[in-house]
Amino acid sequence: MTDLLLLPGDGIGPEVTAQVRRVAAKLIPELTIDERPFGGTSFDQLGTPLSDETLATAKAAKAVLMGAVGGPQYANVPRDKRPEAGLLGLRAGMGVFANLRPALCFQPLADASTLKREVVEGLDFMIVRELTGGIYFGSPRFIEELPGGGKRAVDTQVYTTPEIERVARVAFELARGRRNKVTSAEKSNVMDSGLLWREVVTDLHRREYADVALEHILADNAAMQIVKNPKQFDVMVTDNLFGDILSDAAAQLTGSLGMLPSAALGLPGTPGLYEPIHGSAPDIAGKGIANPLAAILSFEMALRWSLGRPDLAARLYAAVERALESGARTPDLGGALTSEQMGDAVLAAL
Ligand code: NAD
Ligand code: IPM
Ligand code: MN
Repeated sequence: MTDLLLLPGDGIGPEVTAQVRRVAAKLIPELTIDERPFGGTSFDQLGTPLSDETLATAKAAKAVLMGAVGGPQYANVPRDKRPEAGLLGLRAGMGVFANLRPALCFQPLADASTLKREVVEGLDFMIVRELTGGIYFGSPRFIEELPGGGKRAVDTQVYTTPEIERVARVAFELARGRRNKVTSAEKSNVMDSGLLWREVVTDLHRREYADVALEHILADNAAMQIVKNPKQFDVMVTDNLFGDILSDAAAQLTGSLGMLPSAALGLPGTPGLYEPIHGSAPDIAGKGIANPLAAILSFEMALRWSLGRPDLAARLYAAVERALESGARTPDLGGALTSEQMGDAVLAAL
């Protein structure tokens, strides 16, 4: 059995996961690491972005770490064969319904964000994104030709009580170990799924988590508040699509999209899926200058949540902080280091 399955994927994916491999080998030499093609790379080799073997290997591993998928060369591939469809299939196949996306501003990066230092300094907020439901998976979905010309495209947002309740539970549990506050973001003013979301979260809170402060916010206002005053938030729970958008906004508070890791968790005892939240970055792919820290910090989350080594996670986190303190910066953070040199800086700090 493999401890860690690496899925480098496309674009900068292999460039950032190469640095994870070096860090993992130094931290736990006995960790068994396997690697499989995934996304566009898998489509090119095997005709599918997610093969049955890759999914089976993922489900049997202790943790899976994915780099990134996608790229302009796959723009005309049918939707179910696209790299992104492989990622959705992996998330659904592994049953990882709760996606933890921490927006943390490292002290040495307080001036790296496009926002003012006082807005982001000391920031530590966690988005819990529902990951296996909502408009990403609802049916029907299709595009059809209209008789009079033109087309009609349909996507469907669907949520059930158990789907909302299980992800809200993750958010409340996390908040208890943090600053004890949950903000639930939806559009209950216009969407029935938003109304149900608010009802289920409110009900669960009343029954089991009355000790946690709960506030509801409309998702558009949440986007504005994240940029205006992000430190008001502790844990924010939201649906699949809003969570995707709000976490990219939150990433920029930390200095760069290349800083934000994530952990996707399912039922206890099942492997977690760890991914930087950024994409394949076609504009810089192949140049060796991608920031590997989001991927390295995703491994930090794997140590904590799937590999049973919170002690090593803390060591790795401190090493990233020291590397940044020493001035290590890839171009996205205003520096000139390559991905490998940033890897060197983390290894040196370890
Ligand atoms: P992107 O995240 O790939 O890039 C957005 C911007 O951020 C680009 O300017 C890029 O250079 C920069 N950036 C991203 N990661 C970086 C890093 N580690 N270091 C330095 N700069 C970084 O988003 P996009 O351009 O909208 O999407 C490109 C492709 O990636 C699309 O095919 C999309 O579907 C896919 N995508 C995949 C994932 C994933 O695999 N989890 C996530 C988002 C987008
Ligand atoms: C992310 C990405 C993915 C998403 C895409 C590539 C399917 O944007 O992980 O944030 O939308 O979930
Ligand atoms: Mn995204």
